[in-house]
Amino acid sequence: MLSKVLSLGLKGIDGYKVDVETDVSNGLPHFEVVGLADTAIKEAKERVRSAIKNSALEYPTKRITINLAPADVKKEGALYDLAMAVSILSCNKESKIKNEKNFIFLGELSFDGSVRKVKGVLPLLISARQLGYRNFIIPYDNQSEARFISDINVYPVKNLIETIKFLSGEILINPITHCIFTEVVKENKIDGLDFANVKGQSVAKRALEIAAAGGHNLIMIGPPGSGKSMLAKCFPTILPDLTFEEALEVTKIHSIAGELDLKDGIIYKRPFRSPHHTASTISLTGGGLYSKPGEISLADNGVLFLDEFPEYDRHTIETLRQPLEDGQITIARANSTITYPANFTLIASMNPCPCGNYGSKDRECRCTAGQISKYLSKLSGPIMDRIDIHIEVDNVTYEQLKSDDKEESSKSIKERVNKARNIQNIRFSKDINFCNAKMNVEQIKKYCQLDQQGDDLLKNAFEKLKLSARAHDRILRVARTIADLDGSENISPVHLAEAISYRNLDRKYWN
Ligand SMILES: Nc1ncnc2c1ncn2[C@@H]1O[C@H](COP(=O)(O)OP(=O)(O)O)[C@@H](O)[C@H]1O
Ligand SMILES: [Mg+2]
Repeated sequence: MLSKVLSLGLKGIDGYKVDVETDVSNGLPHFEVVGLADTAIKEAKERVRSAIKNSALEYPTKRITINLAPADVKKEGALYDLAMAVSILSCNKESKIKNEKNFIFLGELSFDGSVRKVKGVLPLLISARQLGYRNFIIPYDNQSEARFISDINVYPVKNLIETIKFLSGEILINPITHCIFTEVVKENKIDGLDFANVKGQSVAKRALEIAAAGGHNLIMIGPPGSGKSMLAKCFPTILPDLTFEEALEVTKIHSIAGELDLKDGIIYKRPFRSPHHTASTISLTGGGLYSKPGEISLADNGVLFLDEFPEYDRHTIETLRQPLEDGQITIARANSTITYPANFTLIASMNPCPCGNYGSKDRECRCTAGQISKYLSKLSGPIMDRIDIHIEVDNVTYEQLKSDDKEESSKSIKERVNKARNIQNIRFSKDINFCNAKMNVEQIKKYCQLDQQGDDLLKNAFEKLKLSARAHDRILRVARTIADLDGSENISPVHLAEAISYRNLDRKYWN
């Protein structure tokens, strides 16, 4: 007897159809899985057999062969268990299972027959919907991930016996009710430190506001204790709200990495990732044995905060070059490559030298010229060139620290940021990017036109600061954001001058 049911596989963040074909024939009892399966799938034999037996269903004592097609793509994980069990059971002539061909099955089985949650349900469902599939049976514990996808019927199941009864028409299961993103995400709770707690530092606050509004990379250089880490911790509280499309992408990645908070089902806050400087390259970029997205992908559409930037391994820092430029990372594996999105905003902080006082107005630096240049050279020119905004953060004065002046709250800064981001959402509504920082050459030409005065200003800066073509483009992107914050359609020389002022530092320290 032969039977076939459908399931899905995941490549990168996209799903594809997998046929689970089962052949049950006479012969010595034997169970084999073919079709480039990994060990987790090979071990499915034990789980499927026990689950069927412990559900008091009939397990054929015959020769069982399961093929996972297409056979030339490596398949990973335990999500085919449920499909395999249904496929084996429907091979039985006396089986009452009728409409198994109408569904796509996802789910891991435990020995007692209960269906366990699996990783990556959201991206799998989105891809399957694009491929034209409409009906799905998924683990009960994954249902919150599925509720934001419209136009599909998703039936959550708790165990194998329930699934079989549903397929034989003995019981009914209600499909998951569809939810609308904006209704669920009514009032976004802001977590993080409020900017109202940071005294002074108006330049740094302004720069962070621009970075949040346009998604620009930013580096803070300053002596220890000047408040760099504190400023970065405040940053999440002024990030613009996620759009639904962005939220889906973020959720897809977290779903694959198994880092999704199942309560909400969708991520509605921009991620803020701050891996420690001892983190390995693979944990940052992703890949490894089970091809998981790394920190830079988990920070997609959000922030990657690298505190004490030069302390990271030099090789690790250099691997950030491709994602900083392309917004994605491609990882080579034994027989294929995987691409994960990595559209993050980099926020970095560093001391200017080992003792921390180089360039400071009030404190003396004790480092030798050699020590300073060795420290700074850990950040290469190409990396610095990819950071749009460079700022110096100096210590606040005693008067500032003790002052009773009320500082602006994160809420009120965020309002301006949201306004500027809404302008961008409209600007890029037909494009694939979401913010100014990701504009390509064509878009820069279209949206960043300068008047004669602005053009002269940029030419002057380009020659004087010996800027690269990349820095030139990045200045224009930042200037576009500054103009958006100002509610201005055109980039004026004032906007441009501010954008240029954020590029002075690499000359000061990296000359
Ligand atoms: N502008 C400021 N206003 C209020 N407190 C500050 C300010 N700058 C620094 N501090 C205090 O100093 C502490 C150390 O700052 P931190 O951000 O860790 O410095 P850095 O990372 O630059 O070494 C902060 O936790 C905060 O208590
Ligand atoms: Mg710090």
